[in-house]
Amino acid sequence: PPNLPALKSVAPAPFGTAIKAMQIDDPDWVALARAQVCQLTPEWEMKMEYVLADGLDRPRFDRSDRIAAFAARNGMALHGHTLIWYSQGAEAFAGLSGAAFDRAFDGYVAAVAGRYRGKVRSWDVVNEPILDDGSGLRDCHWSARYGHDGYILRAFEQARAADPDAVLFLNEYNQESVPAKGIQFLKLVERLLKAGCPLQGLGLQSHLWIDIPEGAISTFMREAAQFGLPIHVSELDCTLRTENRLDLRGAGQRTALQTARVRELAEAFTALPAAQRFAFTVWGLRDTDSWYRQGDKDDGRDRPLPFDGAGRPGPMAAALAQGF
Ligand code: XIL
Repeated sequence: PPNLPALKSVAPAPFGTAIKAMQIDDPDWVALARAQVCQLTPEWEMKMEYVLADGLDRPRFDRSDRIAAFAARNGMALHGHTLIWYSQGAEAFAGLSGAAFDRAFDGYVAAVAGRYRGKVRSWDVVNEPILDDGSGLRDCHWSARYGHDGYILRAFEQARAADPDAVLFLNEYNQESVPAKGIQFLKLVERLLKAGCPLQGLGLQSHLWIDIPEGAISTFMREAAQFGLPIHVSELDCTLRTENRLDLRGAGQRTALQTARVRELAEAFTALPAAQRFAFTVWGLRDTDSWYRQGDKDDGRDRPLPFDGAGRPGPMAAALAQGF
């Protein structure tokens, strides 16, 4: 489909992509991003793992500053990702306890959210708090001190204080594909709102795969929408791989399933009330930019993103354009 319209011009909300700072040095990526998106989410370099790699006292903001400057220069919105996550970064807190832990936790959220106040449109304040099987919330470094809901509440309150204008999101994956996880997500949102949490938006990461049953994606979108909060499809990709290594379906069948699921997602998002369509973000533009195509995960054939390695629109781009 070489004549597809720009995705940002057909999407019913700001259309975004994940960005790594090094992509700013790739003129092909920059041209594609300028043509297709109006919003950016740092893929890694705003996470604690990067920011605190040199320790709590020496936060690294060089790369996130670069991404923020690129966004501003190009008139693109910025979505912050992510302040508090069970994974990647808690190492910097090793050995802290009591009031020192509290100071470090609050101080981290204040420093990061404060630095980008006025520069970000929104934040993933807490990322992925729910267990993969949906049986409850994850134990992590943060829940060990504040409790499972407690660390989430604390993070949102700190983020609200540091940046009163950013829209604050809870971000999670597999709500559509693991029903128990979807239910757990909705229950958590309900509890947080009841507790007065300044939670203002729901992030549906949407790391899809081709075996998700038809209807699951649109059903969960409708359930999530019942809170009336803005919804961000925050990290869309759709791998062609399956768990079943003996899967004999050919490339054509896999692509057809990918098209169906991605189109279903785009249609379900478009069907939301306008005020709830916050943004729609893909987790990379070109297949070769995908985390599925890095290192030993890469079989060289997966096509999880809208554009091929040369920046030409592929089946997923067409599915999005049709679904919006
Ligand atoms: C991934 C990035 O794509 C990788 O580059 C990084 O090394 C690890 O994290 N859910 C999330 C994202 O919220 O932050 C993850 O991104 C993908 C799953």
